[in-house]
Amino acid sequence: MAKQFEQSTLGVRAGTARTKFNEHSEALFLTSSFVFDNAEQAAARFTGGDGGFVYSRFTNPTVTMFQDRLAALEGAEACVATASGMSAILAMSMALLKAGDHVLCSYAVFGATVQLYSTILSRFGVETTFVSPIGVEDWHRAARPNTKLFFLETPSNPLGEVSDIAAIAAVAKKAGALLVVDNALCTPALQRPLEFGADLVIHSATKYLDGQGRVLGGAVLGAKGPAMDAVFGFLRTAGPSLSPFNAWVILKGMETLELRMLAQSARALELARWLEGHAKVSRVHYPGLASNPQHALAMRQQRAGGAIVSFEVKGGRDAAWKVIDATKLISITGNLGDVKTTITHPATTTHGRITPEARAAAGITGGLVRVAVGLEALEDLKADLARGLG
Ligand SMILES: Cc1ncc(COP(=O)(O)O)c(C=O)c1O
Repeated sequence: MAKQFEQSTLGVRAGTARTKFNEHSEALFLTSSFVFDNAEQAAARFTGGDGGFVYSRFTNPTVTMFQDRLAALEGAEACVATASGMSAILAMSMALLKAGDHVLCSYAVFGATVQLYSTILSRFGVETTFVSPIGVEDWHRAARPNTKLFFLETPSNPLGEVSDIAAIAAVAKKAGALLVVDNALCTPALQRPLEFGADLVIHSATKYLDGQGRVLGGAVLGAKGPAMDAVFGFLRTAGPSLSPFNAWVILKGMETLELRMLAQSARALELARWLEGHAKVSRVHYPGLASNPQHALAMRQQRAGGAIVSFEVKGGRDAAWKVIDATKLISITGNLGDVKTTITHPATTTHGRITPEARAAAGITGGLVRVAVGLEALEDLKADLARGLG
């Protein structure tokens, strides 16, 4: 189906598999195991020989529909669904790394990803070096003979820095490493990293794939072959599996993915333009703005700028908190990817646990505010922010 149809069609249709009842909406299979006709069939299923369903830790029809739909959208041959975005990163890392290996990771990735590599995988002998998401040369210089993975998120959160996927993929290839791109913020509706040379794609389906802040989920995608086989093998053995219920919710969310991503990006662009002209705002970080230094690269890789807009309020932390506290409509929460607009102060929430020096190096200032734009009317969002901006 993937090659024949456009993204919006794939989002609605890809992966659907009907049962003998011919239901129109995708069925939810709440069952932990599947029944076999006889011992011979059971034996064949356990070896994977006959392709049938066995046990929902690693095979479930609703989860398979989710995997097939997301694979079609990303242009990937294989997809392994996981319980959350972090378990996707864990499963991928556990499948592909061993003690003595080295990872190059952008320093502008989700905080828990930094923690996973720097405090957990380090205990198992995997060393990680953090590098700039935008300095292609830095990746080249930091690569070592034992570097197995390059990991990045683009655009980064909260500053919207854009990594050149094709250029970093070329460096990874030369270094004999795999490039893994976390595509949670753009989703395949806006960006398909495999087309630019990434080897694997990660998703926190919790974000825009669900799109309505209901459930957690994740996925690893890539070409059929040893890497994806190893990820599936880890999932089958260790069990960080996506629940069929969550798969079903996200599957329905994906039906409106393209519409939402384009509409939320359009609102984000308008909001960014308005903020750029506001006297109390010293800087706006949004790759969709023509004034953004990485705008051209962003537009080569992405169909739109995405829905995350960060801006620096004149007056530092107190002024930023005033903007947040004056909101009556926008939700004060760390989550993003919802049709409900959310607002957060990165320096004291998402990036509150890192040292002040590391925060400064990452460009997270006291005055920085992050807005994850949803689907409310633009005028209402502006009015909500204008109250605290004064
Ligand atoms: C870019 C990115 N990757 C991964 C994650 C982790 O996903 P989850 O919360 O589903 O484990 C997040 C969560 O915010 C994220 O923003």
